Amino acid sequence: MSRPFLFGTNFKMNQTPSESAAFYSRLAASVTIPPDVSLIVIPPFTSLAAVAAVDRQGPESIWLGAQNVHWASEGAYTGEISVSMLLALGVDLALLGHAERRREFHETDADLNKKAHAVLGAGLRVLLAVGETAEERTFGVSTETVARQLKIGLHGVGPEQTGLVQIAYEPVWSIGAGGTPARPEDVQPVAASIRNTLAELFGDPGTQIPILYGGSVDPSNAGSFTALPDIDGLFVGRAAWTVEGFIATYEAGLAGRK
Ligand code: PGA
Repeated sequence: MSRPFLFGTNFKMNQTPSESAAFYSRLAASVTIPPDVSLIVIPPFTSLAAVAAVDRQGPESIWLGAQNVHWASEGAYTGEISVSMLLALGVDLALLGHAERRREFHETDADLNKKAHAVLGAGLRVLLAVGETAEERTFGVSTETVARQLKIGLHGVGPEQTGLVQIAYEPVWSIGAGGTPARPEDVQPVAASIRNTLAELFGDPGTQIPILYGGSVDPSNAGSFTALPDIDGLFVGRAAWTVEGFIATYEAGLAGRK
């Protein structure tokens, strides 16, 4: 069984509801999606309802994602959003553990594990982001870092739930305007170690979990990452924040796939 190709973008703290809805409907109208491909659009919480209204008429292979979620089903958690709130909006997926949430909001692997169980328990998809910092890379513990993030983040998840799991490998040092794009030769060894850890955790079903690469991806380098044996897609910030940029980066990534 070959793994699907996934291509997604996270708008971070950008866009109004009408901007996100316009992006989504233009994308759905202009992009071609082969049968083994799914796209992911992750706007801010405040845009989800507006995009979901478009989403219901859109192709099922564009998944609508949330950038975060709380683990509790309800209660005294001011400022937080529950899985059932996302479900009620028609959201397909929750992004967990983006580097900015780990760094700025101190999310721990144990927090992410609680979130993963809440999301998967409700039948929603998880996109778990992992990746080493520049310091961890310098000290030569990139593979240990992502193994720890996966083992704690997915602790107690059953092999039967892995069909709902996807991993974004995003070296922290490569993300955003201040980031240095990774080279494919930096990415492949860590992606292979992620694949091994997933196989160790889940057996055969673990080998089918898609691994996306993210961090300063653009149309000029997209294909060099998707050509790697253990990369099954791309998770893109800035370069995919226009419909034209999204499609150009997606097409370059798809063309690079071997
Ligand atoms: P970037 O962001 O593509 O703008 O580097 C990637 C990310 O934060 O996931």
